[in-house]
This record gives sequence, structure tokens and C-alpha cells, in this order.
Amino acid sequence: MTDRHPMRPFGAEIDLGTGDMLEPERITVRKASDMRGYYADAGALERLIQEGSDPVHYQVFEKPVPETPGNLMYCISKLMPGVVGDEFFMTKGHYHAVRETAELYLCLRGEGFMLMKTESGECTAEPMKRGRMVYVPPGWAHRSVNTGDDPLISFCVYPAEAGHDYGDIEQEGLPKRVLRVNGRPELVAAAAE
Ligand SMILES: [Fe+2]
Repeated sequence: MTDRHPMRPFGAEIDLGTGDMLEPERITVRKASDMRGYYADAGALERLIQEGSDPVHYQVFEKPVPETPGNLMYCISKLMPGVVGDEFFMTKGHYHAVRETAELYLCLRGEGFMLMKTESGECTAEPMKRGRMVYVPPGWAHRSVNTGDDPLISFCVYPAEAGHDYGDIEQEGLPKRVLRVNGRPELVAAAAE
């Protein structure tokens, strides 16, 4: 008789001080050059790529599980601090390919925002800081923005079959951007670009 539940239980360690996942099995790296088209100031991004030696923008650390219904994928998301022009470093942002899947983020380090939008254009932001959880409901695209001086690190959990879909974000971006205005983060309407 075959076992209906062949996967074995396992554990993983996360350093809650630094936010690092110990011994990740998969690391996704996005460099500044992977972010072309996402920032308002394209020239500033090119300068960062040329003069800053194309620095790492963000990383996702995982111990992957099968991408099948019933499993929970989990990861550590680490977004570096910085600005492109006046715009704080951010992740590309994505919908889930399976729209009816949510995601939970628990911020372990740093500060910033989770910027979210629906396909009908509603947009909102939730603050992120150590100890704060953000719940991304089904159907909402989500992007992390780092407004602090340290890496913004979160532990994320979502249905393993969710998948990623950049959808309208790649072409249109999100309706709001997080800019540094007089030294402080401010949510501003994205100009028609
Ligand atoms: Fe997600």
C-alpha cells in the first residue's frame, strides 16, 4: 500500500537576530540590472548599475517544497536598503498565478512598506517593521519597499501552488511609489509614464 503522504516532516533554522535562513537550498538573486523599467528614474538606475558595480537588490532564500496543493511554500525575503534617484529600493512585485491564494509576511528586520494593488487598480500600503505581520489577501499584487538603513527581511508563507505572475506590473507599475521627500518616506501617486 502506498503512503498517501510520502513527504517527511522537517525543520529549518532562521536566525531571528539577522533574519538569515541557515543553509537555504535555493537562492534567487535580483541585481540592480534586473530592475530596469521598474523605477521612475531610469537614468539613476543606470548610474547605480555602472558606478555601483550592479549591486544585489534583493534575495529570496528557500528550502523548496513540492509546488502542489496542500503544501506551504515559505521563504526569507531580503531587500537591501538604498534609493534609485528619490525612490526607495523595492522588489519587482507580483500577483500569484493562482489568484485565489494569499500570502503572509512576518517582518523580522528593517522597516518599509508592503505596497499592494488589485487588478482593478485599488492600491494600498501596510507598514513593515520587526514583529509586524502583513496579510496579503487573494488577488492582491504585492511589492516590498525598504525605507530604512538596514536590510528589510521578512519570513513569507504561501500556498505552494500559487506561482508568480508579474501581470500588469511589468508594464504599468503600481499606482503609488514610495519616495524620499525631505529625507522621509512618502507615498506618492505614480506619474503617468
Ligand atoms: Fe507572493
